[in-house]
Amino acid sequence: PRNEFISELMGKMTIDEKIAQLVQFTADGTVTGPKGGDNFIEEIKKGNVGSILNATGVKYTRELQKLNLENSRLKIPLLYGYDVIHGYRTIFPITLGESASWDPAMAELSSKVAAAEAAASGVHWTFAPMVDIARDPRWGRVSEGSGEDTYLGSRLAMARVKGFQGSDLGAINTILACTKHFAAYGAAEAGRDYNTVDMSERVLRETYLPPFKATVDAGVRTFMTSFNEISGVPATGNRFLLRDILKGEWKFNGFVVTDYTAINELIPHGFAQDAAHAGELSLNAGIDMDMVGGIYLKHLKTLLNQGKVKETDINDACKRILEAKYDLGLFEDPYRYNDEKREAATIYKKEHLDAALQVANKSMVLLKNNNILPLRREQKVAFVGPLISDEANIIGSWAATGDRTGYAVSVEEGVRKLITDKGKLTFDKGVEIVDTSKSQMQKALDNARQADVIVAVMGEFENMTGEAASRTDINLPGIQKEFLAELKKLGKPLVLVLMNGRPLTLSWENENMDAILEAWFPGTMGGDAIAQTLYGINNPGGKLPMTFPRTLGQVPVYYNHKNTGRPYLGAADPEQKYKSRYIDSDNSPLYPFGYGLSYTTFAYSNPKLSANTLTASGSIKVSVDVANTGNYDGEEVVQLYIQDKVGSVTRPVRELKGFNKVPLKKGEKKTVEFTITANDLKFYDINMQFVAEPGDFNVFVGGSSAAELTDKFVLVK
Ligand code: IFM
Repeated sequence: PRNEFISELMGKMTIDEKIAQLVQFTADGTVTGPKGGDNFIEEIKKGNVGSILNATGVKYTRELQKLNLENSRLKIPLLYGYDVIHGYRTIFPITLGESASWDPAMAELSSKVAAAEAAASGVHWTFAPMVDIARDPRWGRVSEGSGEDTYLGSRLAMARVKGFQGSDLGAINTILACTKHFAAYGAAEAGRDYNTVDMSERVLRETYLPPFKATVDAGVRTFMTSFNEISGVPATGNRFLLRDILKGEWKFNGFVVTDYTAINELIPHGFAQDAAHAGELSLNAGIDMDMVGGIYLKHLKTLLNQGKVKETDINDACKRILEAKYDLGLFEDPYRYNDEKREAATIYKKEHLDAALQVANKSMVLLKNNNILPLRREQKVAFVGPLISDEANIIGSWAATGDRTGYAVSVEEGVRKLITDKGKLTFDKGVEIVDTSKSQMQKALDNARQADVIVAVMGEFENMTGEAASRTDINLPGIQKEFLAELKKLGKPLVLVLMNGRPLTLSWENENMDAILEAWFPGTMGGDAIAQTLYGINNPGGKLPMTFPRTLGQVPVYYNHKNTGRPYLGAADPEQKYKSRYIDSDNSPLYPFGYGLSYTTFAYSNPKLSANTLTASGSIKVSVDVANTGNYDGEEVVQLYIQDKVGSVTRPVRELKGFNKVPLKKGEKKTVEFTITANDLKFYDINMQFVAEPGDFNVFVGGSSAAELTDKFVLVK
């Protein structure tokens, strides 16, 4: 029935009506570039718009829909898109933080809740998941993705698509997902947003594209192009990416939207000579919808008359968009997402807040602990730092309609809920994040002097990460470190709790703090999660999804690098000169990918391979015993890495090929098993064929990417 309905409808549509479906304008609200020049209300009245960005809420989306339907000859409903990135109103940890859970179930849960709230509030379509692999912490948008690894990123991306779209797009609590930004946006030179990308097709296909492909396999319905160029061709005019790979090889049958005014940006890129040319290049490349740029609306019909674009391409784009509207049930009832009662009953539902707390707890990463944490209730604790009472930054950037001063739980609020004896606690900011005034410092130091333990809650402003928030310095900003040094002089146990959206350089902090807890921007329930973690109600089990460098000069530093012809073996290397190394820093990062401690300890033993020979159609089981040898129940993310020792093109020193998050009670031991097949060993060989080459492989199993060698096997023909 869908195909018949749409072909009948398209049979009645004029070319103008078809082009209108390809047009998105933004309503008032957050805009991340020029507004597009056109008045969206007037355009809706003229029947020129297929989709609206940034309109939310049952009331407002109903009003605009009504205006649209009154003016649409064929009554084609508007599609509402919005950035529902890590929650709609109930805000979950930023995506990078959630990814530290290494738990696809958490990613699915948060997306499901986000979809339910957004759908109840008139939104049909989110611009998530963002699946850009990112190896450069200077880039502000690392906060929105899953970090540096292709395998972890792919698993989490699939879970997020499932969470947003569910198994039935027609259900009232699911929305369209949008995989972005296609492609390689995370590789922007020098970590500067929107910057140039130049990479080999092999790296593109092996490292950057797999999470995108994974979401196509998971059934994602829309894709967004990226702002950057790749090897000289901007992604938004990139036929190779869009028509050859996405719609061709991968058979993606949803629709492709540009990023915000990205068609217009083909002009400053130096790829299009004017707006009409930009429109021509984009449609021909495979762009279905023009976000905010107004170029399709203005130029497509003329381009068609001039024979510069094909009617079949306009028809195809229109059909893909109408199919999405149909599957959402909008033709049946354009107001089905506009029910005030459902909106009120869904937003900030208890079950959603509980889920946000659960995910926030799972995203905590313990970076260091000299047995200071967990805190004991009887201890006198001085809480200091600019973020102790903060409700605005704690929910992070791209926080949709998340409430920054009402529902959000600050650390102070979370701690006060747990520790009711007021005499045990003091709260003094001491310093601000970027302001260099020291006027508040003395009082904070005086109170800290009286305490048994000092907890400093510090980090970045939420808007120091996200879009257009690249930094050339990834230290703790402002005079926060200076304040920590003053606190250190007091000689008390000192705990640092961090809220930030990117890896920071923490070498000094690692030397001088007794404990460091990475809390990211943990969302609406973040204060409860931090308090519960500090006091041991939650045992942190998160692992880093991105390497933390010792110094910015090491960037990009990532675990799955190549070996080089002169690998440096560290301080014990007999040859210290003429090796691939720095003379002023170790090569290793401060905290490697996959790293994270727990209040308990885990011991790995008895690693085994079921065989040391793998055939093309066979499999090998890798098993290892993991025991909880400490004093708390906990969870360990057991990670499997493989190294292909020799290839027709060089291979990384190791690559993540599996992980398993295992809950272990105090004293408990479990056997964890992984299966390896030849499929897991494939890469793009010298002829760009995706194959597994026979030869020797090393296997590493452990609690981080620094896991020791476990065993070896040979892949035979
Ligand atoms: O979805 C975003 C994208 O990630 C960055 N530019 C704006 C889009 C829509 O708001």
